[in-house]
Amino acid sequence: MNMHKNVFKESNTSVKKAVKYLERSKLVALKTETVYGLACDPSNIEAINKLYELKKRPAFNPLIIHVNSLDLAKKISFVNRKAEEIMKKFWPGPLTLVLPRKKNSFVHDFAVSGLETIAIRFPNSEIINKIISAFKRPIAAPSANTSGYISSTDAHHVIECFGNKVDLVINSGRSNYGIESTILDLTGPTPIIQRLGVIDSSLLKERLGVEILESHLKDNKRPNSPGQCLKHYSPKTPLKVNVNSPKIGDAFLNFGNDNSITHDPSLNLSKSSNLNEAAYNLFDFLRKLDKLKKKRIVVAPIPYIGIGKTINERLERASI
Ligand code: TXA
Ligand code: MG
Repeated sequence: MNMHKNVFKESNTSVKKAVKYLERSKLVALKTETVYGLACDPSNIEAINKLYELKKRPAFNPLIIHVNSLDLAKKISFVNRKAEEIMKKFWPGPLTLVLPRKKNSFVHDFAVSGLETIAIRFPNSEIINKIISAFKRPIAAPSANTSGYISSTDAHHVIECFGNKVDLVINSGRSNYGIESTILDLTGPTPIIQRLGVIDSSLLKERLGVEILESHLKDNKRPNSPGQCLKHYSPKTPLKVNVNSPKIGDAFLNFGNDNSITHDPSLNLSKSSNLNEAAYNLFDFLRKLDKLKKKRIVVAPIPYIGIGKTINERLERASI
């Protein structure tokens, strides 16, 4: 990766560079605690167009806007008491909130696909928060991968996707969680989870003490997040979930310590059956197995508990 002139280590100099780039309509990849984001100035139509083009992202799929304070969130959305309480409990952190949008010069219609709502997140990422402070405005940052492909959890994943087409990559090491934020829609009478993520629905219910609906469930009639109807997180190799015994020619993504399975090639998401470790490794290992260009990637069963539900959801979406 050192061959790439667009990759810089995290430092005060790279923060300044990133701000200068954002001001000049360029795209900057940055680590967040969930996955790497591809950042641009959401008020700048030229930058937004570049971002959608590079990611090959459909125009109907709105961006998440990143802030580094509640005050900044209030400049671009209507925050009622309930929303403010949730922000105080979970921010900074891996929870994106969908709120009624307040129109202003910070966020162009095109950044949010013309919606009346806006998805906002205050990430627990020092680099992003420093950049927002210096930029003095929110930044848009979708996951730093080609639309539909596996998200990037490390700087070299971003380079694998975009090479020199991304103007700047700040390498801050691996993302802490390895899976995207949970999206919670607060625009209706009852909060609705639009995308499963790092924060589990039972934790949300417990900490908020309110009922929460889950829109990603198949029996729910309400439309999902615009981006959630798409095939996602997919390797190029066909993927199959819940496979206990891989066949010759398969690349195997194992979980847990079942020694009876000796398959080559294989990677183990967590030998100790730790679901957080599995989430941390998931996208990196899928990319590694995809590179082997086998006939299939087959994945061992993963328990539907906590973040395990999110891992399963990502894998199911990858296997559509
Ligand atoms: O963890 C994350 O959230 C990462 C990091 C970089 O912050 N970002 C991320 O962005 O996952 P992206 O663009 O890959 O996914 C954003 C999702 C899409 O599914 C999009 O449809 C949904 O957020 N979204 C954006 N605005 C929305 C809105 N107003 N209402 C409902 N869903 C929205
Ligand atoms: Mg994404």
